[in-house]
Amino acid sequence: MKTSNDYSKSIELLNKAVNEELDAVHQYLYFHFHCDDQNLDLLSSLFRRTAISEMRHVEQLAERILFLGGEVEMKGGKIEHINEVEAMLKMSYQMEDTTVLHYNQWAIECGNAADSASKKLFEALVIEEEEHRDQYDNEINNLDTYGKSYLSQQVMERSKAIASGKVEE
Ligand SMILES: [Fe+2]
Ligand SMILES: [Fe+2]
Repeated sequence: MKTSNDYSKSIELLNKAVNEELDAVHQYLYFHFHCDDQNLDLLSSLFRRTAISEMRHVEQLAERILFLGGEVEMKGGKIEHINEVEAMLKMSYQMEDTTVLHYNQWAIECGNAADSASKKLFEALVIEEEEHRDQYDNEINNLDTYGKSYLSQQVMERSKAIASGKVEE
């Protein structure tokens, strides 16, 4: 599209965001698989739900890139092979914390480039990333407070559900 604005900076930042979101989708799905394998239903569904939320973010960012006449690069998707619950939660918290910082900075940069719609998109995403960060913070606190009994409680719930025929083994 032909406009008076130069959207190249916004397109670059939106693509960097797609990259971070794809990393998060892959990492959280990987954590989801491993929590499921360890019979940790609550954490397994938390990671699955968050991965889906990040996938929706990819979609919103991609729509904006294409609207501005750019190309969606679809870089990202690298993962760390971490299988221990506390390390999974700490890494996830750190990822969200970094994303919150980046999106706040990139909102300002888009605003400075006279692209208030991209700025608003980043600001809307910050609110959701703060919620993700908070949910991981809560789980880290639960683990700190209740230790192994917090995890064994989840395993027991799975066993009870299987025994009562509510879920398949
Ligand atoms: Fe996200
Ligand atoms: Fe997130």
